[in-house]
Amino acid sequence: MLPDLTAIRTEYARAGLDERDLDPSPSRQIEKWLRDAIDAGHPEPTAMTLATASPDGEPAARVVLLKGVDVRGLVFFTNYESDKGKQLEQNPRACVNLFWVLLERQIRVTGSVEKVSPEESEAYFRSRPRESQLGAWASEQSGVLEGRAALEASLAEVRARFGDGEVARPPHWGGFRLVPERVELWQGRPSRLHDRLRYARIGEGRWKIERLAP
Ligand SMILES: Cc1cc2nc3c(=O)[nH]c(=O)nc-3n(C[C@H](O)[C@H](O)[C@H](O)COP(=O)(O)O)c2cc1C
Repeated sequence: MLPDLTAIRTEYARAGLDERDLDPSPSRQIEKWLRDAIDAGHPEPTAMTLATASPDGEPAARVVLLKGVDVRGLVFFTNYESDKGKQLEQNPRACVNLFWVLLERQIRVTGSVEKVSPEESEAYFRSRPRESQLGAWASEQSGVLEGRAALEASLAEVRARFGDGEVARPPHWGGFRLVPERVELWQGRPSRLHDRLRYARIGEGRWKIERLAP
């Protein structure tokens, strides 16, 4: 039997968030909160929920890992032929959400999505463990498998194909960059009166900051 879910609640009281605390640059602000999460020993500090939508509005969300952040945006890597890859090809809009429960913080970033350069994808692919490189070839991500054995067989075939040689990057594997238009920071506060501050892009490198009702 499940416990009474309506009775499960956490009171957030670690900190507040003031306009004065914010860096004028949202990317530097994201870096700051990411560093705080890493320093706090948060599990999977770079895990973020990525929401996409098909052109006719069917939504989908899943977790991916943030692999880079700078003024250009947030980078993650995936299979371009996966469900998310196809959705982003047809409708290059996305929203990501990072939640760090230990810090009682959430960041939401909304914007357009573009592929990173092949050089960027190549550089990250080269840094991955060999088994992950082989896995990128072995798995037709989001496709239906007859069973686990089919995946293992595909991996064995890929392993034999590459032998001891370098594993090339699959052409269908690479990075996407989410180019932010809105960046919202959420800091939990007592009695659900949380702090929400949002950067909205008003021009090239120019942002206005608004406070939102919790
Ligand atoms: C913690 C965590 C990290 C993940 N990181 C990635 C990632 O960086 N890239 C990726 O393609 N899938 C990642 N996944 C798997 C995705 O959540 C998802 O199952 C997969 O990408 C297929 O999604 P799609 O069918 O919607 O395209 C991760 C899952 C978890 C739970």
